[in-house]
Amino acid sequence: MISTNLDQAVALLNKNQIIGFPTETVYGLAGNAFSDVAIKKIYEVKKRPSFNPLIVHIKSFDVLDTVATEIPEKAHLLANAFWPGPLTLLLKKQPTISNLVTANLDTVAVRIPNHPVALELLHQLVFPLVAPSANPFTRISPTKAEHVAQYFENEIDMVLDGGTCMAGVESTIVGFESNKVIVYRLGALSLEAIEKVVGPVTIINKNKKNPKAPGMFLKHYSPKTEFILTRNLQSEIDWFQDKKVGLLLFNTIQPNFELKNQFVLSKKSDLNEAAANLYEALHELDKLNLDLIIAERFPEYGLGITINDRLERASKN
Ligand code: TXA
Ligand code: MG
Repeated sequence: MISTNLDQAVALLNKNQIIGFPTETVYGLAGNAFSDVAIKKIYEVKKRPSFNPLIVHIKSFDVLDTVATEIPEKAHLLANAFWPGPLTLLLKKQPTISNLVTANLDTVAVRIPNHPVALELLHQLVFPLVAPSANPFTRISPTKAEHVAQYFENEIDMVLDGGTCMAGVESTIVGFESNKVIVYRLGALSLEAIEKVVGPVTIINKNKKNPKAPGMFLKHYSPKTEFILTRNLQSEIDWFQDKKVGLLLFNTIQPNFELKNQFVLSKKSDLNEAAANLYEALHELDKLNLDLIIAERFPEYGLGITINDRLERASKN
């Protein structure tokens, strides 16, 4: 099931099978972007509603025009600055892109992943790969091959192993309206980095009940365990002292609290490192059979903004 055999991955994808594959953000559930058979399998296995579109992964900028057209100037600037990387662009779709990929929208989501195994795989294929994150709908995204195997052991034949994902949270999704840059999903590329290249951006959908970007449901990234997010850790710990509690923390261990039930995401207070460790910690906490996970709110800059977004969604059980 978990394997580094690239030839096997290529063979399966050429037969319209779907596989788990590594990217720098999270693992994806990948299939031929030009095969409706493969695309349908992805929706089915992920139990994803058909109105939630998929991201197309391409091998290089040269092939962008096979999936998208009318690329705005600011999209060029961003692609130049950040591809390959954790940035997904919403662009006008080519007619050859199936409506199943885009859920009937006239835009297509595209990125070049920055992971050596993903790029090597894409270079051995004659088609791009559509891939949502390789988790069942609403569950925690996978950052290791093992997570994917646990979720889908009966549904897929292979997870191509590329180690632990370096970024650890999904790509940032950006679209264009007139001359404006709109951030649809906060992600592994910080707002500050994007604004350095294209100036101020508009963020939409943050915690809206009725999201405009189809996939931005409030309940998302959820552990099975009850989950709360707080600015006041100590008072929540005191309040729930009769319960079996786990802690998700930024940089400091909580004294007088069971060590094995707490996860510090970055001892050195590095928000990129914290983001990389976030989902793994949620996976581990979820295995501990706790009554409750308490997460502390992260600083509101850099990837702290993305981490808080994911923690807010996880807390909407
Ligand atoms: O980092 C990532 O982006 C990972 C890796 C595997 O590349 N993929 C990922 O895919 O997170 P997924 O399917 O879990 O999330 C894709 C998001 C969804 O929220 C979907 O609604 C949105 O992208 N999306 C896709 N196409 C769109 C479009 N044309 N317009 C608006 N949103 C779109
Ligand atoms: Mg996802």
